[in-house]
Amino acid sequence: MAQERGHWSSRFGFILAAAGSAVGLGNIWKFPYITGENGGGWFVLIYLGCIAIVGLPIMMAEVLIGRSSQLSPVGAFRKFSHGGSPWMGIGWLGVLAAFVILSYYSIVAGWAMHYTWLSVSSGFAEMETDAIGALFGSVYENPWINIGWHAAFMAITIAIVAKGVHGGIELASRVLMPVLFIILLVLLIYAATSDGFAQAFKFIFMPDTSKLTGASVLEALGHSFFTLSLGMGAMITYGSYLHKKDDLVSTSITIAILDTGVALVACLVLFPIIFSVGMDPAAGPGLVFVSIPIAFSQMAGGAILAPLFFLLLTFAALTSAISLLEVAVAYFVDEIKIPRVIATVMTGVVIFIFGIPSALSGGTALFGSGFSDMTQSIFGEGDGKNWFDLFDYLASNWMLPLGGLGIAVFVAWRMGDKAREEGFKTSNHLGKMYWGWVFLLRYIVPIGVLAVFLHAIGII
Ligand code: PFF
Repeated sequence: MAQERGHWSSRFGFILAAAGSAVGLGNIWKFPYITGENGGGWFVLIYLGCIAIVGLPIMMAEVLIGRSSQLSPVGAFRKFSHGGSPWMGIGWLGVLAAFVILSYYSIVAGWAMHYTWLSVSSGFAEMETDAIGALFGSVYENPWINIGWHAAFMAITIAIVAKGVHGGIELASRVLMPVLFIILLVLLIYAATSDGFAQAFKFIFMPDTSKLTGASVLEALGHSFFTLSLGMGAMITYGSYLHKKDDLVSTSITIAILDTGVALVACLVLFPIIFSVGMDPAAGPGLVFVSIPIAFSQMAGGAILAPLFFLLLTFAALTSAISLLEVAVAYFVDEIKIPRVIATVMTGVVIFIFGIPSALSGGTALFGSGFSDMTQSIFGEGDGKNWFDLFDYLASNWMLPLGGLGIAVFVAWRMGDKAREEGFKTSNHLGKMYWGWVFLLRYIVPIGVLAVFLHAIGII
């Protein structure tokens, strides 16, 4: 490739950026609420199993493809197969997934920004419980709040990605990730001293089968793709900015441990707070935006902790959004040879526009009867999904698992010895893990992903 590619300044820089991609709304917003809905305990154990036997092997496969090709996904698949090869479709699917996911991810990130602002400017302490509960509904329904914060969040994401790998993405991760870990630690200490901690600890770690269903297992599996940023080439792209000598195995394990650690700590922060004020852990997507502000409004120190919590959520979302945008930008820079700044602004603006239907999905007065009604009737009555739900569903249940399956099959069946040479030769330890890794990619990952698909179409 004639163009000069950026690189991380060190392996540590890569770990921070990749952990920044992995740690996001999936850890702090989604994981706690799906854990709550699935009864804690067993669900957490199954999730840990999915991370170890499906997520981690795919993460290693992605970093390997990126590091050894030094190219973004489409180019990487071309390099290891041939021009015009259908494998390149996995790369394109990833670019499409970046557009789909970031367009609605940015809306949730916008709520986090809005709540940061609300908790600083007016505070929740003076508000009645019912009013805080109603607030989220009114935010979701308000087109201007959603679109405004969506625009602000996308503008910040664009500004960082436009500055490139080293001076933009890595720098942002080096600043934001340590802040994120410190905030999380402060919140954990606070939660650990609250009344609900023992109950929460039991809820998260004591296996209880009563709420566990087959669907829970598949939900855990699907979420392991999303939370580790797998299946759409984000780790291929980030891996392509690694130097070839950087170790693959220990790096991937570190990222997976950081991501899982943050998800568990997020539960250990949220559930004690929820239990302390006697609220329901199975509150669904509103857990973070409804239950938590209510809980903070009733707790000592809530006026300081609430802004900290929403800032944490915003930072986590930002470092993930950067990686989503980078997947699309890297494609235009590497393949179409568009200068980075132009590619970033162009892609970011298109994603912003793509996100507008999601911003209006709460049902708004903008189009009379509400955009959500319109999209619900387009995409089916009954459990009709609005645009926002549809994008989330498509990405988490179809695009990422499909991409992950393709990547696993490609590395384990198609690359063969090349994968061993590229991935494990430079790894001075764990070389023997190679066959275990290939076994998981060849058999276990495809069976798991197939089960997710069969479930999604209602066969199992
Ligand atoms: N891993 C992110 C989260 O847990 O919020 C979401 C994500 C980021 C998914 C980047 C996919 C991706 F490429």
